[in-house]
Amino acid sequence: MFLMFGKTTLYFSFFLFTFCSFFSFGQVDYLVGHDIQKGEELFKANCTSCHKLGDEKKARLIGPGLNVEIFEEYTQEWLIEWIRNSSALIETGDEQAIAIFEEYNQSVMTAFPTLSDDDVRDILAYIENPPVEEVAVVEVVENKDVKSENISTQTLLILVLALVSVFGFLTFLKNSLKKASNIEETIFQGLKKWVSSNIAIVLIVVHLGVLVVIVIGWQSLSKIGISQNYKPAQPIEFSHKLHAGEQGIDCNYCHSSARKSKHSGIPSANVCMNCHANIVEGPVHGTKEIAKIYKAVGYDVDSRSYIEGYEQQPIKWVRIHNLPNHAYFNHSQHVVAGNIECQECHGAIEEMDVVYQKEKLTMGWCINCHRDSKIDLDNPYYHEYDDWVEKHKKADLTVEDIGGLECGKCHY
Ligand code: HEC
Ligand code: HEC
Ligand code: HEC
Ligand code: HEC
Ligand code: HEC
Ligand code: HEC
Repeated sequence: MFLMFGKTTLYFSFFLFTFCSFFSFGQVDYLVGHDIQKGEELFKANCTSCHKLGDEKKARLIGPGLNVEIFEEYTQEWLIEWIRNSSALIETGDEQAIAIFEEYNQSVMTAFPTLSDDDVRDILAYIENPPVEEVAVVEVVENKDVKSENISTQTLLILVLALVSVFGFLTFLKNSLKKASNIEETIFQGLKKWVSSNIAIVLIVVHLGVLVVIVIGWQSLSKIGISQNYKPAQPIEFSHKLHAGEQGIDCNYCHSSARKSKHSGIPSANVCMNCHANIVEGPVHGTKEIAKIYKAVGYDVDSRSYIEGYEQQPIKWVRIHNLPNHAYFNHSQHVVAGNIECQECHGAIEEMDVVYQKEKLTMGWCINCHRDSKIDLDNPYYHEYDDWVEKHKKADLTVEDIGGLECGKCHY
């Protein structure tokens, strides 16, 4: 009896726990319903002179970088008061207000008495839902972005917890019913009886379950399509159309490792400086964008010299093309041995102001090309293998014939 009681209590607390965790997931969205777009306009008009979106320290301007953490630190009411008139709040002796004022060397934030409560909530909603480009800065050196995976594991975890807790709750109900009626019966019989007398609840639970599965399935399906045409904003408005197109700079000048290694790589800011030590102004953005290169390498335009002891900051280009970890792709194999133009896989990059992913990069895409592509045996790369070439010259080999469909060639 005691044991049984212990078990049901356990189930029940588990159920409560899951229930609560649902709410804390939901809590982050308490600004739902507010106008993010209007918030963005208000933020850009009033706040961007002192705040950027992002990490508190790293995105610091005059004030701290703003992100969802402020919702954990402060209540909504506090934030509204602060943004309307931070000095007034500091004067009331509010500890949090004084603490942040001290932390930022007593710089004073402008007061915004004309903003209504709803205006401020719109701004907060915008801070809560920043545009993707501004937060998803992935360093090119760090290969894989696991963000989308995290979301689906999270969803999955919630689903499992929910199912377990529903089961727990049912068991709890069953046990209490059993205790109440004091009838000896097996779990199965009890469940059957319970189900038939509560058919409405069971149907609702089953329907909810099916709904969740559909939603998750739909989400993961739409995730597959996301990467094609992926066109993130970059930290510097670098244009391939201008450099590779109009200026005719060869792809290999900047992506030299494409011919030598697995990766094409992104050029470091020092490569840019080969030209931009002298080209300080562009036709579209004036000095604004080029100045970001100088900031990265520590270059003083006025004296045309490098600042001594400056710690270089890598430019955080957002990675566009990205195969999953289990797939192996090698650039030099395709560019040198295969003699394939960059454009066959990346599209007309030299016409793009902003690069986007043209192809799907799915397994089917790789395989189809391997089925259709003839090996180019006249390619200088094959001169080292003369005997082999002699033997196969007439066979009209495709990539498939040399093993291009073997799983192990593309998977670790
Ligand atoms: C003139 C510069 C300036 C402007 C404009 C400005 N802020 Fe601030 N903000 C600051 C400074 C500086 C701080 C740090 C606290 C202090 O020293 O008063 C701050 C702090 C904050 C904080 C607290 C952040 C934290 O992590 O503790 C929030 C929230 C905030 N500002 C929101 C806004 C919003 C929203 C706007 C636009 C409506 C805005 N600020 C406009 C300078 C400014
Ligand atoms: C002056 C230097 C320069 C030249 C020339 C250049 N690129 Fe780039 N390339 C970059 C930089 C910087 C980036 C990262 C920023 C971006 O994506 O626009 C990049 C990004 C790319 C990407 C996307 C990489 C990713 O994140 O997945 C591809 C593909 C690419 N370049 C192909 C080419 C091709 C093809 C050419 C020749 C037609 C070329 N590039 C010429 C500098 C250059
Ligand atoms: C056979 C197709 C193919 C060809 C040809 C090709 N690429 Fe790629 N490229 C890819 C794939 C696939 C990726 C993603 C690789 C990954 O995630 O590991 C990629 C990624 C890149 C990247 C991102 C950084 C990196 O190294 O992963 C750059 C830059 C790039 N390519 C430039 C080039 C340039 C420049 C050329 C021509 C010299 C070229 N590519 C030729 C398929 C190709
Ligand atoms: C081989 C020389 C060369 C290299 C290398 C080079 N650029 Fe340029 N860049 C130019 C020229 C030329 C212009 C255009 C100047 C003009 O038309 O007035 C330019 C213009 C620009 C502009 C201004 C665009 C505008 O429309 O205002 C930016 C930003 C820029 N480059 C970024 C970069 C970055 C980032 C790199 C390194 C990844 C880089 N460049 C590498 C030659 C180069
Ligand atoms: C545009 C056509 C094309 C596409 C797309 C393509 N490949 Fe290839 N691939 C080739 C050619 C051609 C060769 C043969 C190169 C040679 O002559 O050795 C090759 C060779 C290979 C090889 C070596 C095969 C062997 O037996 O030595 C691997 C591995 C490979 N590709 C992986 C990939 C992967 C992974 C993708 C997709 C992300 C891909 N390829 C997409 C054309 C393509
Ligand atoms: C020419 C290269 C290539 C060959 C050969 C190849 N794969 Fe793949 N495979 C890939 C690439 C690239 C991906 C990642 C595609 C994506 O993310 O959509 C992939 C993805 C997968 C996945 C994950 C499914 C998914 O949609 O993410 C499995 C499983 C898989 N491959 C199994 C195999 C098996 C089994 C073989 C041998 C019969 C094989 N592959 C042969 C390139 C290849």
